[in-house]
Amino acid sequence: MAKYSDQLIICTDDGSAGHKTVVTEPLEDILNARNDIARVWGIGPAVMMKYVSAVTKVFNVPTTVSLNTIMIDGTGMCGGCRVMLQNGPKFVCVDGPEFEGHHVDWDNLLARLSFYDTEEKEDLVRWDKSRTELAYEKSPGFFKIAEIPSYAKHSTNIPKRVVKNS
Ligand code: FES
Repeated sequence: MAKYSDQLIICTDDGSAGHKTVVTEPLEDILNARNDIARVWGIGPAVMMKYVSAVTKVFNVPTTVSLNTIMIDGTGMCGGCRVMLQNGPKFVCVDGPEFEGHHVDWDNLLARLSFYDTEEKEDLVRWDKSRTELAYEKSPGFFKIAEIPSYAKHSTNIPKRVVKNS
């Protein structure tokens, strides 16, 4: 990255590399020190892009954010990637994935991203439990599943496809 940059500033939450800080801190320093920044790109977690956009808005610097991480099927069919912009709803996979960060309704986006928090946490617990329930019988060269996890007994069968003759 340094090879292709005029300046590379690395920030990490835990200080394991570069500065122990959030990206908005050096970004604000740069925007305070220079008035020739034509555009900022924010790519990463939604909450980071939200705050990058908030900082650049103060300096009136256009900011491109990439919302590709909220896409699901990527075909415009599922609606999972709907994002609210100043001029109404858009689908990230069809209309983006890059958007002007100052036009994104970040609170709406973050609320949508956490919509299934409870189910995801429950699934994580179930998945973790299933790992411990599974008993593998070691044999030379392969593993044999000795027990089916309890949640698998309650899974929904995939409906059979009905082919109609015309
Ligand atoms: S990812 Fe499904 S509609 Fe965009």
